[in-house]
Amino acid sequence: MGRLDGRTAIVTGAGSGIGRATTHLFLKEGANVVASDINADGLNETVSLADAEDRLVSQPADAGKEADVAALVDLALSTFDGLDVTYANAGVSGGAIGLADTTPDQFMEIMRINTLGPFLMAQKASPHMVKQGKGSLIMTASVAGLRSNAGGPAYAASKAGVISLAQTLSYQLYNTGVRVNAICPGLIETGMTKPIFDIARDRGSEHKLGQLNPLRRYGVPEEIAGAALFLASDDSSYVNGQALPVCGGLSAGHPFATPGKA
Ligand SMILES: NC(=O)c1ccc[n+]([C@@H]2O[C@H](COP(=O)([O-])OP(=O)(O)OC[C@H]3O[C@@H](n4cnc5c(N)ncnc54)[C@H](O)[C@@H]3O)[C@@H](O)[C@H]2O)c1
Repeated sequence: MGRLDGRTAIVTGAGSGIGRATTHLFLKEGANVVASDINADGLNETVSLADAEDRLVSQPADAGKEADVAALVDLALSTFDGLDVTYANAGVSGGAIGLADTTPDQFMEIMRINTLGPFLMAQKASPHMVKQGKGSLIMTASVAGLRSNAGGPAYAASKAGVISLAQTLSYQLYNTGVRVNAICPGLIETGMTKPIFDIARDRGSEHKLGQLNPLRRYGVPEEIAGAALFLASDDSSYVNGQALPVCGGLSAGHPFATPGKA
């Protein structure tokens, strides 16, 4: 028996990294999945790597566009006759742009995809969940939304916004049975972080990646997918309005000069 048997989920950003791993794990756990990404090639690859194709439909969409998000919800309802879980995970880092060189347009585009996207998904999906008295809205934030030093100002602000959405929307959906939570990944090897990993490998300094957290390693997409499965399933039935760091402990401490010893 799977932990999501009979449930229907939408996953955005499913064409790569965390979204792909989550799509595959949700399918393995018995869910019907509507997988979406703006990158049709990446999405097709996710589909080609999946088992249980009868429980998977894919739809290219821009996660920051209202009509596209509404269409994903309609697709889930018309194909699978229900909607239990959404994972608004699509996101962009915007690259290494700092205070001086971030244009207003760049700032707003990052906000549109990273923050407006999860808002739109919650707005379009929650009425159906409210009707059934149950549902789980999951969003990808970041440790960058908790504290500084994990991304540029626009990215960090966009992810702090996602954490605020999880908190605020859990109360907007007061007494409905619909839960809203965010996941805050630390450094995960995905398409988004590929440039960092490529540079480190070129320089022979890959062993330094992830050394700032107490587990002293970077994470892999499957470790975030596991957290998404927890939040999607009844295992988290009393978890609501939270931002769950999955970061090897990075966000638990202050910066330190020399590693502590056990
Ligand atoms: N990788 C990390 O270290 C890390 C850390 C913290 C948070 N995150 C967050 O995790 C989420 C997933 O990213 P990832 O690390 O798997 O990176 P990724 O680049 O591998 O995957 C992100 C996916 O989102 C898609 N996407 C981008 N813009 C979109 C749009 N407008 N509409 C629909 N899809 C769009 C991309 O095409 C891509 O397939 C993002 O929200 C990211 O900010 C990642």
